[in-house]
Amino acid sequence: MSEFIKIEQQDGVLVVRIDRPSKKNALTLDMYDAITAAFERLSVESELRVMLLTGVEDSFTSGNDIMDFIQNPPTGENSPVMKFLEAISTAEKPIVVAVNGLAIGVGTTMLLHSDLVYAGKKATFQLPFVNLALVPEAASSLILPKMMGHQKAAELLLLGDKFDAEKAESLGVITRTVADDELFDVAMAAAKNLAAKAPEALRLAKGLMKSKTDNIEERMQEEGVIFQKRLTSPEALEAMTAFMERRKPDFSKFD
Ligand code: COA
Repeated sequence: MSEFIKIEQQDGVLVVRIDRPSKKNALTLDMYDAITAAFERLSVESELRVMLLTGVEDSFTSGNDIMDFIQNPPTGENSPVMKFLEAISTAEKPIVVAVNGLAIGVGTTMLLHSDLVYAGKKATFQLPFVNLALVPEAASSLILPKMMGHQKAAELLLLGDKFDAEKAESLGVITRTVADDELFDVAMAAAKNLAAKAPEALRLAKGLMKSKTDNIEERMQEEGVIFQKRLTSPEALEAMTAFMERRKPDFSKFD
């Protein structure tokens, strides 16, 4: 679909690599469509358990292709960028990201919808929307103030300066900073670790973390209903039997 999006499968991990280094991995409409198609595969193919997103050379992605913004501005819900944002924000299976370099615009906002985000020390982040006379996207105007408070979010979203991996980690935008030469291996190890876990339990746990219920009592009830059902689930039976038998659980037959 797009020569600039490379897809491969390693065990249960669907690796999606943005590969357009001549343009710092800027995302065109075809590239968004190709990543959205990968999310569709992740959703329907039961042997695929986790997505791992990364880039090449010095770029994760420099964001939306600015020429595309001028020539093919997104219009409506069905535009490739909106479909991509819907896919990443509603994915039930876990998303791991290895931020290997520049993460500009949507390169940073997509991280807010991912689960485990590792960044190399040389990664650079930026939300230059206002600098381009635009406004924040991908619910970053909601998620960032909630994550770090209005004043810290205002620095990122209104000033729009670049910031490094250390700052991204301290603000909670990423999970952890790692050495550049270890980045892919660390992210892949985390992805494979997730891929070996009980798939339905993972999906339900991620769903709870993204639940709209923000009242503590209501959330405990929501968790309680699912928790009780889980106790008699085949996955939990396998987990507990494996514990009693002092062996590793095998969730490969579940989907
Ligand atoms: N859209 C289209 N082309 C882009 C791009 C983008 N988002 N980001 C980089 N490019 C292109 C440049 O135009 C240049 O193309 P050319 O070689 O044909 O002239 C090439 O990628 C290399 O970029 P360059 O600016 O020379 O590299 P740099 O290392 O000096 O700077 C960036 C890299 C990413 C910091 C800088 O290119 C930049 O700020 N890009 C725009 C980022 C942006 O605003 N994204 C949109 C957010 S909503």
